[in-house]
Amino acid sequence: MPLRHFLTTQDWSRAELDALLARAAAFKRSRIGRELAGKSIALLFFNSSMRTRTSFELGAYQLGGHAVVLQPGKDAWPIEFAAGAVMDGEAEEHVAEVARVLSRYVDLIGVRAFPGFRDWAVDREDRVLRAFAQYASVPVINLETITHPMQELAHVMALAEHFGTTDLRGRKYVLTWTYHPKPLNTAVANSALLIATRYGMDVTLLCPTPEYVLDQRYLEAARRNAAEHGGSLAISHDLEAAYRGAHVVYAKSWGALPYFGRWDEERPIREKYRNFIVDKAKMALTDGAVFSHCLPLRRNVKATDEVMDSSACIAIDEAENRLHVQKAVMAALVSGDEATAGG
Ligand code: CP
Repeated sequence: MPLRHFLTTQDWSRAELDALLARAAAFKRSRIGRELAGKSIALLFFNSSMRTRTSFELGAYQLGGHAVVLQPGKDAWPIEFAAGAVMDGEAEEHVAEVARVLSRYVDLIGVRAFPGFRDWAVDREDRVLRAFAQYASVPVINLETITHPMQELAHVMALAEHFGTTDLRGRKYVLTWTYHPKPLNTAVANSALLIATRYGMDVTLLCPTPEYVLDQRYLEAARRNAAEHGGSLAISHDLEAAYRGAHVVYAKSWGALPYFGRWDEERPIREKYRNFIVDKAKMALTDGAVFSHCLPLRRNVKATDEVMDSSACIAIDEAENRLHVQKAVMAALVSGDEATAGG
């Protein structure tokens, strides 16, 4: 049987995703299991984390397994990724050895590797994650690189809980860019487009100017998803029109792709759009929408205290669901039988 990774939700069928969500709901009702008894996962963090690290470590523990956290370049050797590199720089070992050695020790490998933020043409190749998937002989899980599939599952689980069904067709979904003082990763925004269209919602990507439109790869995938699952995808730069009638508002900040690596040039544009903050007035335009965010979130920059503390905010539910969906994914990958993921 070919090795199955979890690099993107696009590689998994809707039936498989639905089964994972059902399994996650079962884990939410009953946290402790033996699905990972005697199994282990290596979690490689090239970037900071609070939720991902905590929920994966605890999730493995709650299913009888063990997690090893490694931070290459900090508490583990710096790694080279280029094929054929003459390794006379900082890196002490090549991903070919790291992935192969870890595969002899553990049953799963998770990788968080954000873009370098210098050249999007390079970063969009997702080479760190792809290299681990190439050389590992155990399943590799994306812990956020240029997409964030675990966040996607937690997000759609929170929406399904709110609306009482995984049939989200006909819901107006707004993915809104927000201001942030730094240019951030597009991963969660890319992921929001993928999962919202996968579940048939009518999606509007709201951003201040065309420079903030996301990579064509994800727009095209979202359009294909929408065509297949009965939803739609629109791009808007009109705050009021985008919010009006929405059922879901999902917020994220990201850096403008044309300015990748030239952030001093992007900053004056970004600074003009502090008004993209999610506030009570904008939420009042919606059709009683729920609000969410992947977290971490800067209060009163991305969303106001009033929105974050309102009953419309499901960001904490979404964060909790990271634990449950990741247990479902780990259990499915170690069993090698996604068809039984629904349990
Ligand atoms: N949402 C998320 O992935 O959180 P962390 O960056 O804290 O892991």
